[in-house]
Amino acid sequence: MLAIGGDHAAFSFKEEIKEYLDEKGIAYKDFGCHSPESTHYPIYGEKVARAVASGEYDRGILICGTGVGISLAANKVKGIRAVVCTDCYTAALSKRHNNTNILALGARVVGIDLAKMIIDTWLEAEFEGGRHQKRVDMIMAIEEKNS
Ligand code: RB5
Repeated sequence: MLAIGGDHAAFSFKEEIKEYLDEKGIAYKDFGCHSPESTHYPIYGEKVARAVASGEYDRGILICGTGVGISLAANKVKGIRAVVCTDCYTAALSKRHNNTNILALGARVVGIDLAKMIIDTWLEAEFEGGRHQKRVDMIMAIEEKNS
């Protein structure tokens, strides 16, 4: 199941993405925000990241104005590999090589149709493992040095 979230800058964009996920029959939970009222992207970055890191949700999509702030917040949660994507190549390789578990998008950066293509690409791509697993393990080992 997919966890989705975003701040006020992404509210209407997130509604469109939810409609798209509905059309595709992809189940999700919306962790907010639930109105265009000004709020703070770290709240939703952390909520979705914790939902994914706990294993309750297997992947997440986060949206803010640029995708930057919300991905930075998500990446502070242990076990999260969030990537901001503005193109399909990065979306595919971030899954195939880096095993990203959260996709971040900028509602003020990418058009809605490109965002849908990026989402399709990211959801369909699969982690290749092998030599990439060792490198992902090395990234995750950095978290252990912090605790
Ligand atoms: C909100 O104005 C904006 O700063 C936020 O959505 C995001 O772009 C931050 O990275």
